Amino acid sequence: MKKVRLGIVGVGGMGKNHAMSAKAANNLEITAICDIRKEVADEVAAVYGVPAFYDHHSLFKSGLIDAVLIVTPHYAHTAVAIDAFAAGLHVISDKPVAVHKADAQRMIDAWQSSGKKFGVMFQLRTSPANRKFKALLESGELGRIIRINWIITTWLRTQKYYDSGDWRASWRGEGGGVLLNQCPHQLDLFQWFFGMPSKVNAFCHFGKYHDIEVEDEVTAYMEFADGRTAVFLTSTAEFPGTNRLEVTCDRGKLVLEDGQLTFKRSEQNVSDIIRESNENFPVLSSWDVKIPVPSNDISATEVLTVFADAILHDKEPLVTGAEAMNELELGNAMLLSSLLKKEVTIPLDAAEFETELMKLVATSRYRK
Ligand SMILES: NC(=O)c1ccc[n+]([C@@H]2O[C@H](COP(=O)([O-])OP(=O)(O)OC[C@H]3O[C@@H](n4cnc5c(N)ncnc54)[C@H](O)[C@@H]3O)[C@@H](O)[C@H]2O)c1
Repeated sequence: MKKVRLGIVGVGGMGKNHAMSAKAANNLEITAICDIRKEVADEVAAVYGVPAFYDHHSLFKSGLIDAVLIVTPHYAHTAVAIDAFAAGLHVISDKPVAVHKADAQRMIDAWQSSGKKFGVMFQLRTSPANRKFKALLESGELGRIIRINWIITTWLRTQKYYDSGDWRASWRGEGGGVLLNQCPHQLDLFQWFFGMPSKVNAFCHFGKYHDIEVEDEVTAYMEFADGRTAVFLTSTAEFPGTNRLEVTCDRGKLVLEDGQLTFKRSEQNVSDIIRESNENFPVLSSWDVKIPVPSNDISATEVLTVFADAILHDKEPLVTGAEAMNELELGNAMLLSSLLKKEVTIPLDAAEFETELMKLVATSRYRK
């Protein structure tokens, strides 16, 4: 079987992990490694017995690769991807696709004129629990959805973590905090499960628990055009944290918590009871349904295998660059709402967000 020849750009912490995941895929092979830190590139290239490159331009000119996996700090995703499309390469970027919507749009523009594949690494999409949750939402079993609450505070990070890379947790180096680094996975699942809200109000706290410039606690309230509401709450400063996604619906309450899926199913639709009951304080019957999920495993190898398959057989990546923009838009909208202290409508004004972000970049302690 023909294999896709993959180059990896950025082999620090996550790039090394993704290299192991790529090695396990049977339809691609790692044929080159690139990192601007020579010793890091050399070390990882030696593990896979492939050439090392110290800048992506020379890698892209080498003729050694068909596709590139980008695992650099966030701002570099945009420039490296645009250069890759111009060089005729397929691209899979690690999350988030970019720092902000305007940069993501620039990548999408470059991809559209290239005719190549553009995927993004959102490996939580492969979890059977998440897939089951989505299937239940789509089955109609829940009836009308009323409200969504997601508390995701299992992201405890220390000052040592934030100090571990000079780019981290600064406006100029990273471009954001928990919304851009940790939560893209949940924001992507959120939009995959529920679609996009139309209005966002959010409250971000910047460096509240750590000596950092960016947000380390966020509470967001969202409204959908059809009346559903959602609260999304995250922090990198709690222990033990909570990862609980609760959907209140006409037929009861569906909860995904720590990989366990439960449905508290009411005997009747709550909207019928509100309208028709002749009692003031009705007590309804309900059943606790524990929904079996085969596992909660996630697989970056599957994301990469689907990506290589898309290249080989002209299919779609698991998450396309265009779809990955949705979660970015949500995170950007939460930040913008907090900065401007006002409600933000979706679609987000990408130019307005970029202007506000660049004001923060101008004040950033990180000067590189
Ligand atoms: N999918 C996931 O679950 C997951 C988990 C952690 C991190 N990430 C993502 O991985 C990316 C990297 O994060 P990390 O924690 O590995 O950072 P890191 O600092 O450990 O590694 C980044 C590497 O990129 C290199 N680099 C920087 N600019 C470069 C360039 N222009 N060309 C080539 N190499 C360059 C650096 O030298 C470094 O070795 C980020 O996008 C992050 O959000 C994803």
